[in-house]
Amino acid sequence: MKETVRILIPEDKVDERIAQLGAQISQDYAGKQVHLVGILKGSIFFICELAKRISVPVTLDFMSVSSYGSGTKSNGIVKMIKDLDEPIEGKDVLIVEDIIDSGRTLSYLLKNLSSRKPASIRLCTMLDKPERREVDVEVDYQGFIIPDEFVVGYGLDYDQRYRNLPYIGVLSLTKE
Ligand code: IMP
Ligand code: MG
Repeated sequence: MKETVRILIPEDKVDERIAQLGAQISQDYAGKQVHLVGILKGSIFFICELAKRISVPVTLDFMSVSSYGSGTKSNGIVKMIKDLDEPIEGKDVLIVEDIIDSGRTLSYLLKNLSSRKPASIRLCTMLDKPERREVDVEVDYQGFIIPDEFVVGYGLDYDQRYRNLPYIGVLSLTKE
């Protein structure tokens, strides 16, 4: 199969939106410290840019879950691959995710992390595909709403590739 990527959101637009989100988060968490929880690996590019734009004190931790196989379809099962390094009890947690698709990953994560008694827990996603939602999730901060297309770049992968594209693109597969 031939893989082609069409630019959906160019790099300058992504960066501009992340700066806005950073400013908003800095305002909302004024006087507090925000504990960013990045979901590996998709959120790493987004969380780095976002963290740099937040002006209140920031701490970082990461966890890894899997909801997809190697292709473009969800199997509906969420598995914990790597847990956080530190407890989150009493912390103002902001989960940072690359994309919400069915909502299964985040609904699992919210339930799991809420049970550890954080002072607060909110959710920030770079992309949201609301048309695909199977489980309701409340999103506090959202970069872009996108149509139901498979996207890569800015952290998002297809078969572990394309994460390093500096923009968000739509991937299409065609017979050669
Ligand atoms: P959900 O549990 O269905 O909401 O899926 C969320 C996870 O699926 C994301 O964190 C991504 O890793 C992956 N995912 C969903 N849609 C896409 C896409 O369009 N491109 C790449 N990965 C995606
Ligand atoms: Mg992910």
